[in-house]
Amino acid sequence: MARKTMIAGNWKMNCLQKDGVDLAKNIALKVKNNKYNCEFLVCPPYTLLYSVKKALRGTKIALGAQDSHQSDKGAHTGDISPQMLKDIGCEYTILGHSERRTDHHENNALVAKKAQAAYANGLKTIICVGETAKQREDGETLAICAKQVRGSLPKESNATNTVIAYEPVWAIGTGKTPTAKDVEDVHAAIRQVVAKKFGAKTANNMRILYGGSVKPSNAKEFLSLPDVDGALIGGASLKADDFLAIAKSVC
Ligand code: 13P
Repeated sequence: MARKTMIAGNWKMNCLQKDGVDLAKNIALKVKNNKYNCEFLVCPPYTLLYSVKKALRGTKIALGAQDSHQSDKGAHTGDISPQMLKDIGCEYTILGHSERRTDHHENNALVAKKAQAAYANGLKTIICVGETAKQREDGETLAICAKQVRGSLPKESNATNTVIAYEPVWAIGTGKTPTAKDVEDVHAAIRQVVAKKFGAKTANNMRILYGGSVKPSNAKEFLSLPDVDGALIGGASLKADDFLAIAKSVC
């Protein structure tokens, strides 16, 4: 199975109804008018899932959430379950994003539990890993990413239900990026960790996205690396032209 390039937009805590629907419609129109050989995914905030789903009707652009709970339902004020996301038409849920690891103190064990609940409800996951600036300076990048991959992917993960996103924390929203060689080295190392835990076939088929200040101007450099299977894009996914320009650089 060849790994199909994924171009995913993480809208984070952005867009009111009109902005989100306009953005989704704009992306849908541009994707329809061009032949891209990649899988598109948009992950708006919860408040926009329903209206963006409607705006994407008739397209192959997948819908995802930015997090989901480890339970199906119950007394968890403010949380959203994978069952609810499946019900509204989501195909994916992002788990373990560094902003959730930092803002909500999420750890690998919790991310693994959330992933199990997501799979049990028929959702696929994008599981994020990545080192901080300090960890990078201390030469711990590979060890941190390996630990996060081992701890955050439960035994039920496979190449169909799981995508990994390598997002160096210091590169998110900063305009700074690792070198292409650094990205390839980390992705190749992550693939080895996956091979050790899940076997060579799964590792060979599992997609590993790069995320962190991806823009039209640097996308090709990263997306043409052998072990980079797509991008998880924050800021640049909020402009349809930029989002599609990133896709155009490889798909
Ligand atoms: P930026 O593309 O804004 O750096 O964000 C990356 C990211 O965190 C995607 O999940």
